[in-house]
Amino acid sequence: MAEKTLPFTKEQLEEFIKEYGTPFHIYIEKDIRENVRKLKSAFSWAPEFKEHFAVKATPNPYILKILREEGLGADCSSLTELILAEKAGIKKEDIILSSNDTPGEEFQKAKELGAIINLDDISHIDFLERVAGFPDLISFRYNPGPLRAGGNDIIGKPQEAKYGLTKEQIFEAYRIMKNKGARRFGIHTMVISNELDPEYFIETANMMFDLIGEIYEKLDIRIEYLNLGGGIGIPYRPEEEPVDLDYVGEGIRRSYEEKIVANGLDPVKIAMESGRMITGPYGYLVTKVLHKKEIYKNYVGLDACMANLMRPALYGAYHHITVPGKEDWPLDHIYDVTGSLCENNDKFAIDRPLPRIDIGDIIVIHDAGAHGHAMGFNYNGKLRSAELLLKPDGQAAIIRRAETLEDYFATLDFSKL
Ligand SMILES: Cc1ncc(COP(=O)(O)O)c(C=O)c1O
Repeated sequence: MAEKTLPFTKEQLEEFIKEYGTPFHIYIEKDIRENVRKLKSAFSWAPEFKEHFAVKATPNPYILKILREEGLGADCSSLTELILAEKAGIKKEDIILSSNDTPGEEFQKAKELGAIINLDDISHIDFLERVAGFPDLISFRYNPGPLRAGGNDIIGKPQEAKYGLTKEQIFEAYRIMKNKGARRFGIHTMVISNELDPEYFIETANMMFDLIGEIYEKLDIRIEYLNLGGGIGIPYRPEEEPVDLDYVGEGIRRSYEEKIVANGLDPVKIAMESGRMITGPYGYLVTKVLHKKEIYKNYVGLDACMANLMRPALYGAYHHITVPGKEDWPLDHIYDVTGSLCENNDKFAIDRPLPRIDIGDIIVIHDAGAHGHAMGFNYNGKLRSAELLLKPDGQAAIIRRAETLEDYFATLDFSKL
């Protein structure tokens, strides 16, 4: 069983807490950079491989800047995310707008930035033409429906998921775009989320290479850009293994040779829009124990709640917990680890074996770097917490301050009461 260790000491944490209070998320720059380099190396064979980081996972411009320096682009799903990518210096077709139920202003901003636009529905062709005009590179999101197994609680089964175009619509969409004079085409799919089985990614690439061949045969259209979406899982549990990226890269390379190169359809630029695997394991939620409570079960109450990390409450997701300074203590106590929301599912862990916990202990919740702070909300008047970056020199920098009561009240005009 892999051990889940911390990339900082208790003493370092105490320093950060003295300066910034709790709770906060902290991201580890060195580990993020090293991981990105591994992903890029697995696809170094691919013509102009591009990972567009899914901004929704960690929408912080300082993180985006680090990723840009490593050669990544951005996958944006809203106007706000497009602006974040722009502020981080990510440009043109390094940005893809991959949204659904899209408002006109998002299409306009994407067009202005020179981004790739990935349409989620055939009816969006006319809408896009009317509100913004077409981009240089137009892409469509394919939903294989019953033609492809996959899916889970996060993304839904393909045939029940709201995303993308059916196979029939895909051919019709490219035909329409060709008739409208489009010259550069991309295609996109995302059918899995938080998947640890590497075969899924290879199978998805196989399916898409076949589809690229069919589009060429039926419509004489060359697809120049294939985006395989995100969805690479991370080992939230100590007994899980990370996805073997080299294995995935090699499997996709073999399929590319067989289905794309052998049919004279290369080059196709392979892209991904992973979020979770880029930042997830390299971010931690740091919080402190406020209270202990013993009723029918034993509870540990934290100063963080599901507004800081919603995944356990939303999906029953496992997030590992470490109590710094007690790493070697026996796990001989069973606790529910809770936040303070008036929601009974505001629990980071249920029946979790942990060392004896005392009021004031620091609690570190692992794998909170993606879809963590990003999913925060203000229910129960909770203020969103700070984000820190642990630099390679061991210093922490604040990359988003905590919200204040003034921030919370800024949208209310009390003078009209
Ligand atoms: C369209 C799209 N792309 C990429 C992602 C990122 O997925 P992940 O963080 O699981 O890699 C998501 C996640 O919701 C998504 O909806």
